[in-house]
Amino acid sequence: MKVTVVGAGAVGATCADNIARKELCEELVMLDIKEGITEGKAMDFLQSAALLGSDTKIIGSTNDYKKTAGSNVVVITSGIPRKPGMTREELIGINAGIVKDVTSNILQHSPEAIIVVISNPMDTMTYLALRSSGLPKNRIIGMGGLLDSSRFKYFLSQELNCSMQDLHAMVIGGHGDTTMIPLTRLATLNCIPVSTLLDDATLKKVAADTMVGGATLTKLLGTSAWYAPGAAGATLVEAIVRDEKKVIPCSVMLDGEYGHKDICIGVPVVIGKNGWEKIIDLKLNEEEQAAFDKSADAGRNMNQALQL
Ligand code: 2OP
Repeated sequence: MKVTVVGAGAVGATCADNIARKELCEELVMLDIKEGITEGKAMDFLQSAALLGSDTKIIGSTNDYKKTAGSNVVVITSGIPRKPGMTREELIGINAGIVKDVTSNILQHSPEAIIVVISNPMDTMTYLALRSSGLPKNRIIGMGGLLDSSRFKYFLSQELNCSMQDLHAMVIGGHGDTTMIPLTRLATLNCIPVSTLLDDATLKKVAADTMVGGATLTKLLGTSAWYAPGAAGATLVEAIVRDEKKVIPCSVMLDGEYGHKDICIGVPVVIGKNGWEKIIDLKLNEEEQAAFDKSADAGRNMNQALQL
């Protein structure tokens, strides 16, 4: 197995770090446009490999896509991160050009790759990568829902004082502060509905904190978060390379599911060696469906700004 991570900023480097620690592939390429950064980060990681027990071969590449040739999975993290007070949507102007170029360069050398998109605005960048490449829809996966679900579990665990491993909770919809939909009704603590354990006001607060989870961190850090986004990217890579058939909320192209088509938005999908293999078409209640429709409308508006 060969995996490439494009973009060696904090998110890309953390993603690569997680992939290498878990030995998800024999060969891992880190690529960035900044001279020397991936070569340095690859060497730094390799100098920790004896301590960590990782035998993954890591190759740094300053914008040389030939080194990425034959990758089975490629994670795109390129682009600028948001600054405090910015929405993910404001990044579209700069990041769209970058993600389009990266996708095209990657596919020239790895025509069979499955692509995981992390760059923001994530749903729009996923749509752009798919529409500009013409790839089969199952090969492009946007990571946001997995990250947002992990944040949802964190906030639930704070209230329940429980292990996050016991929580099943999902965020669907767009990966935006106002467009994500934490599915509180379906969240459970080891099969016990959390709605029987927490009162309404607490559940609402958990959902609201989840939705601005990324913005809260951006305010604290002065830039966007990296540990959870990087780990979420690596978790998706793991589900693909190990053909896990895990159900993970991801941004994928809908074709009538959830009442929408021609849009990439977060829904639960089965992830395996072919990318996303199946959409789980949940029966939403009226309120959830209305939120989903609103989220899809916002996503559609964003997509209109793309030059395809
Ligand atoms: C986040 O929510 C980077 O979009 C990412 O932290």
